[in-house]
Amino acid sequence: MPWVLPNVKARGEKGVTAHFNPCIEFGEMTRMPPPIQPLISRKATGLKGRIKVPGDKSMSHRALMLGAIAIGETRIKGLLEAEDVVNTARAMTALGARTSRDEAGVWHVQGVGVAGLQSPDQPLDFGNSGTGVRLAMGLMATTPLIAHCIGDASLSRRPMGRVTKPLQDMGVRFEAAEGGRLPLTIYGAKHAVPITYTLPVASAQVKSAVLLAGLNAPGRTTVIEPVATRDHTERMLKAFGAKLGVMDMDGARHISVEGQHELVAQEIDIPGDPSSAAFPLVAALLSEGSDITIENIMLNPTRTGLLTTLLEMGAQIGIENPRTAGGEEVGDLRVRYSKLHGVRVPAARAPSMIDEYPILSVAAAFAEGTTRMEGLEELRVKESDRLAAVEAGLQINGVVTHSGPDWLEVSGGGAPGGGRVITHMDHRIAMAFLVMGLTSRIHVGIDDGSFIATSFPDFVGLMNGMGARIAALPPK
Ligand code: S3P
Repeated sequence: MPWVLPNVKARGEKGVTAHFNPCIEFGEMTRMPPPIQPLISRKATGLKGRIKVPGDKSMSHRALMLGAIAIGETRIKGLLEAEDVVNTARAMTALGARTSRDEAGVWHVQGVGVAGLQSPDQPLDFGNSGTGVRLAMGLMATTPLIAHCIGDASLSRRPMGRVTKPLQDMGVRFEAAEGGRLPLTIYGAKHAVPITYTLPVASAQVKSAVLLAGLNAPGRTTVIEPVATRDHTERMLKAFGAKLGVMDMDGARHISVEGQHELVAQEIDIPGDPSSAAFPLVAALLSEGSDITIENIMLNPTRTGLLTTLLEMGAQIGIENPRTAGGEEVGDLRVRYSKLHGVRVPAARAPSMIDEYPILSVAAAFAEGTTRMEGLEELRVKESDRLAAVEAGLQINGVVTHSGPDWLEVSGGGAPGGGRVITHMDHRIAMAFLVMGLTSRIHVGIDDGSFIATSFPDFVGLMNGMGARIAALPPK
């Protein structure tokens, strides 16, 4: 039976059916932090198996959002059913769309049209998700609604000015906490102004927020992207029938959308998330005797920087069964234990592997020689300051590192381990160091694995199913 969302109802509805993990249920307006879950990871060799990782997070947020403003019913297969995305589904429901999940695991979204979103009657809680809140701010920006946006302690520390600034230029008003952060109230523009905006940071979230705002602005909204970032918004907008144009000019991408043009509901098939696949992939590369296949992974070229880097480091990774699904390149990854060597990872590659530096840093610790990663300034404003969190985690496990404001150098040769890593409410720090524990001499502990549920709820089960040894510890 599907679950019923008790606190979020679409207007005029008795109740809205949706499936979600009951452990992330929370009461009206109160945000309960999840119970702290310390974990420990011990040495394991010979990881084996054919596995599937959950659906891509970026595509999942976008599919729900575009479905919410399309005309008709969008059906989504392979949606990531993790906290970040469930929060987006709840937000779309609160804004007037209808979302449900059927017995076969397919999500159904009844859209309200590009101008159809309505003021929610309670705060929209985006939990830990920067993508969720920033894209939703764009989606709401050009409809005259009022919405209060909140998130957890990690999200409430993250910069929102990068999105509120261009949206203000489009006529949106915000009341935000100090530094323009969450909690914030958005007053959507009644008379929206289309803009041309050059991205000051390489951020797909900012690009997407402006393009989504453009969907209900009169005329043409253009984003100029000097450095290419993930292009799922553009691909999906095209699939939904948006009037979207992309042009390369003077070394930059110009992406334009004509506003006030209705979108048409779609059937979307979401492949596996390469950023989640990165963890079992590196685990298999590092752990002697391993040979695994990770099926159905999205291989959009704006997301494959980690694969490029690992291949340069000597990784044995094969792409099998290459195909297209959901408008994206997809393949199965065959991964075998490999002897890696250190490399220099250029700054230009950062946007295509921005979420993968924590796990790459763990791989680097076991490579021969030094790995230097450059262009990492954006890591400072992720779910945690990832540059600092990674470096601290490596050092406490006996790895020698050096760093600057936007670079990190990791000396390879192996990690003694034995440290307890502080994860700072960051799922990717948690998973990266659990992978480290599989290969380090002494086990590795993490202070809290509960945030893994934001992107990869069955991470521990899936890893242990291949032969890993990750276990819960009693909270301190
Ligand atoms: C995302 C874009 C990236 C990435 C995030 C997901 C997206 O953030 O780190 O996990 O879905 O658009 P930035 O665009 O801010 O770099």
